[in-house]
Amino acid sequence: SQTVGRSADGVVTVGGIEVTRLAEEFGTPAYFLDEADFRARCHAWRGAFGSDADVFYAGKAFLSRAVVRWLHEEGLNLDVCSGGELATALAAGMPADRIAFHGNNKTEDEIERAVEAGVGRIVLDSFQEIARVAHIAERLGVRQRVQIRVTVGVEAHTHEFIATAHEDQKFGIALAGGQAAEAVRRALQLDGLELIGVHSHIGSQIFDMAGFEVSARRVVQLLAEIRDEHGVELPEIDLGGGLGIAYTSEDDPREPHEIAKALGEIVTRECEAADLRTPRISVEPGRAIVGPTAFTLYEVGTVKPLEGLRTYVSVDGGMSDNIRTALYDAEYSVALVSRESDAEPMLVRVVGKHCESGDIVVKDAFLPADLAPGDLIAVPATGAYCRSMASNYNHALRPPVVAVRDGEARVIVRRETEEDLLRLDVG
Ligand code: LLP
Repeated sequence: SQTVGRSADGVVTVGGIEVTRLAEEFGTPAYFLDEADFRARCHAWRGAFGSDADVFYAGKAFLSRAVVRWLHEEGLNLDVCSGGELATALAAGMPADRIAFHGNNKTEDEIERAVEAGVGRIVLDSFQEIARVAHIAERLGVRQRVQIRVTVGVEAHTHEFIATAHEDQKFGIALAGGQAAEAVRRALQLDGLELIGVHSHIGSQIFDMAGFEVSARRVVQLLAEIRDEHGVELPEIDLGGGLGIAYTSEDDPREPHEIAKALGEIVTRECEAADLRTPRISVEPGRAIVGPTAFTLYEVGTVKPLEGLRTYVSVDGGMSDNIRTALYDAEYSVALVSRESDAEPMLVRVVGKHCESGDIVVKDAFLPADLAPGDLIAVPATGAYCRSMASNYNHALRPPVVAVRDGEARVIVRRETEEDLLRLDVG
């Protein structure tokens, strides 16, 4: 969705800039992020949910100071899940009351910093954490606004590692067996906590709305039970993130307004049925905002045809800049972008330069048969969970993120250097 075109000599352009120029100026591998597209997606989510709802961007997908500023300007809130993300959010000027703090095992130090900063909410994930946050808040003399994360028992149709609402996994407190109700009971008794709502996140890269709908229904039912037992109507619910994006042409993602409409209708209907005031809804999209806005640019190093199998194309990055293929069997597409070619398509596997055979970036794709060392290839939709999950495996230097806007490109996260690596090594 970046403004992609081709120059007269066949080089792909992004926002009017030739990718060959980008490679010269910023090197490869590198992530190029379309700032206008990022802002447009923020705008679409805000518009879809309107003023009765809050959109929290999930910083785990990709976070940097520039991103925090864009979010702030576009009226989004921010979900962080570690001290590092919290520090970045605060350093870039996100008002603390627009930050939600997540995680299944926040440290005492992280909790203390979040409470001291005055974050808008802490999402509690266990009985121990309910007590821990209450204790810290009391010690600091504040009443911390909190939500309780519940596990609604939905099987989201996605990869096992990124599904989070079935029972046998580490997140949240189960609705089943009255666990969530007991958690609410405890939270309501503690002076250090102001329980503002219930939270559910069912998983990630989801296309089917049914899981979100079941989750919304069960969360509202819990609110009704809480009202019946305690006489309080909790004012908010958060239905998490997880909306899928198109990695290849096979994926058919839902739009923000579709999810807003579906969730809004269900929550309204269930609340009417239970005679509840409609709570304020919040959602936490990460991938759906940043995923489609960036691509990774690689230079081809070697082209190795394996007779009767496929051709292995090695690039100058790999699992250190995109672990998703190795970890989740994720699908990506790839294109030759530094020139045009009329050559026949050949079946390729795009692999990295790391020391293991699972170091695959694109498992199955077609590239022109005249592909050669020095060509530039681009892998789209790498904005989410690529730079944020990048590693230094084999002492790889993590690539920069370059924001492109109005025909100009500027580094927002610089490339790591060997000095950066050596600076950490103090032995
Ligand atoms: N809210 C909570 C509580 C979450 O745990 C997550 C993602 C999100 C929101 C944002 O989900 P999104 O809208 O981005 O799907 N590394 C995996 C994804 C892990 C997601 C973890 N939690 C991947 O690369 O697919």
